[in-house]
Amino acid sequence: MGSWTLDDIPWDRFDPTKVDPDLLRIVKAASLVERNGGDYARYLCGVFSGDDEFRSVAQRWGDEEIQHGEALGRWANLADPAFDHAAAVTRFTEGFHVNVDAASSVRGSRAGELVARCIVETGTSSYYTALAEATAEPVLQEICRRIAADELRHYKLFYTHLRRYLATEPIGLWQRLRVAAGRIAESEDDELAYAYYAANVEAGHYERGRCSRAYARRAYRVYRPHHVERGIAMVLKAVGLKPNGRLNVWTAKLAWWGLRRRAARLDRLAA
Ligand SMILES: [Fe+2]
Ligand SMILES: [Fe+2]
Repeated sequence: MGSWTLDDIPWDRFDPTKVDPDLLRIVKAASLVERNGGDYARYLCGVFSGDDEFRSVAQRWGDEEIQHGEALGRWANLADPAFDHAAAVTRFTEGFHVNVDAASSVRGSRAGELVARCIVETGTSSYYTALAEATAEPVLQEICRRIAADELRHYKLFYTHLRRYLATEPIGLWQRLRVAAGRIAESEDDELAYAYYAANVEAGHYERGRCSRAYARRAYRVYRPHHVERGIAMVLKAVGLKPNGRLNVWTAKLAWWGLRRRAARLDRLAA
């Protein structure tokens, strides 16, 4: 298990007056995706069959992701006693499936898989750092800080194994860029949209576009330029480019501009 447990969270400091209803909705969605970490661990164990060192790392990693889901779910239940985390997890896993039986990576190679894992951990470490800074609720701040520290450690872990694989099964810069860009684009795919739907039961059936926009509009609000800059540095490092320097400055400016533009568009659509 990780470096902390649910007992380390100061639950008695929960302040219901500081709960932001928009953040509550995205925390509920995140709790389901994180809680599904066991399926990703199974997928990774299949992809890395024969690499027992990595497989045991992946198991521990999966347990930590599950704990993230439990912590966020418990907080969401404090903020909204009508929220049934276990029922929402079931709803989510019935409608969203990870291919746990895959024998090889959907990224084309094990190194490609590890690049994609680094991108995911970049996204989560930036997101929870931003959430911790965006919320005024003390317990959620504490949970998000702890999760963000775990996600950064996960990034380092996958990056270490990426370097190990690149030494024997190298993939080029363009391939790494392609995997990274593909994984970033997937952030608007089904997973988060369906988690938002399953966590925030509303009238009507699941519509991916509507749920994806509802999630993204609330999630984009928490970011500030320094989160984007740090995230871009981590992405550049994962694809084998210099993380700090002019490329980071300009890519981060472009990404921040794109994020603001997208957020404004989502706000206009929701108005
Ligand atoms: Fe996580
Ligand atoms: Fe993680």
